[in-house]
Amino acid sequence: MNRIFSGVQPTGNLHLGNYLGAIRNWVRLQDQFDCIFCIVDLHAITVWQDPAELRKSTREVTAAYLAAGIDGKKHIVFNQSQVPGHAQLAWIFNCVARLGWLNRMTQFKEKSGKQRENASAGLYVYPNLMAADILLYKATHVPVGEDQKQHVELARDIAQKFNNDFGVNLFPLPEPMIQGAAARVMSLRDGTKKMSKSDPSDMSRINMTDDADLVAQKIRKAKTDPHPLPGPEALGAGGQVKDEALTARPEAFNLLGIYAALSDRPLAAVIAEFEGKEFSAFKQALTDLAVATLGKIGNEMKRLLADPAEIDGVLRHGAERARAVSTPILREVEDVVGFLRP
Ligand code: TYM
Repeated sequence: MNRIFSGVQPTGNLHLGNYLGAIRNWVRLQDQFDCIFCIVDLHAITVWQDPAELRKSTREVTAAYLAAGIDGKKHIVFNQSQVPGHAQLAWIFNCVARLGWLNRMTQFKEKSGKQRENASAGLYVYPNLMAADILLYKATHVPVGEDQKQHVELARDIAQKFNNDFGVNLFPLPEPMIQGAAARVMSLRDGTKKMSKSDPSDMSRINMTDDADLVAQKIRKAKTDPHPLPGPEALGAGGQVKDEALTARPEAFNLLGIYAALSDRPLAAVIAEFEGKEFSAFKQALTDLAVATLGKIGNEMKRLLADPAEIDGVLRHGAERARAVSTPILREVEDVVGFLRP
């Protein structure tokens, strides 16, 4: 059976990159897969989180999932800390993964920065916990944005090493699913940097809860270049932006990619429509589209958050189901490892 697992960290500022790179794709996969969507609060605390904010963000991310169209009755939606198996399997994976593998993780290098000695041990072993999230359910497919690809590949390596070390075929090798024109949404202030929750400038991202005026302001002020919009010569044979075009005009292609993703059209069609036009006209069209899509989701999020009973019910019920799926898998792993249960 094909099963999806994916998650978002409840660390505030859920943005357009999270939506277009991940959540929106999940909505479409719900019909073909058995899905588990997690709010990964254990991951969040690898960097300092204010406890009250963490609780608030956990509900906010859940609201975003539901408002975007995730069916919390049909599929499993829960926050990670309610299922102890994640931490238990992560410990076993801490003993499977090699230091050399973790040392190659680019996200640790980015997040720990120059203060590496002061980073939490949790941040370092974060990818092992992520492998545990996926493999605790024997998930086969992991829909994520481009930035998480390396972590899913590490989860494959861990699954393979575990299977080899113990001579079993217990874990599937999970496949990353990286989809669409917006697998890597870039900052509105710098087209070479990823749109991120942790960017100090709020103008660099469009948050899921920004109102129409703020979205309009952010798009109006988004960095561009002095040329009219590019034409189809910027695209290669596969419909991808050519490297040299992207390097020359990262902001233009980022905004075009966002437009293509939001309008659900191929990038080539969007480029053909706006070829030679000025950014001002394009930005107006982009604003209308972004406001129409995010406005609906933002309003539904606000409705859900006004009385969290529905959200809490989804998380409680989701956690029960997640425990029911994962408990026998964890037992199987523990038996293979040799843990005695007299
Ligand atoms: P997180 O919380 O940073 O991001 C959640 C999802 O959003 C995607 N994303 C983006 N996509 C396109 N453009 C962007 N600028 C952008 N920024 C973020 C991410 O790729 C991700 O899919 N480690 C994960 C959470 C996690 C997880 C898992 C995911 C924990 N366990 C197991 C899948 C399976 C993370 O920090 O995502």
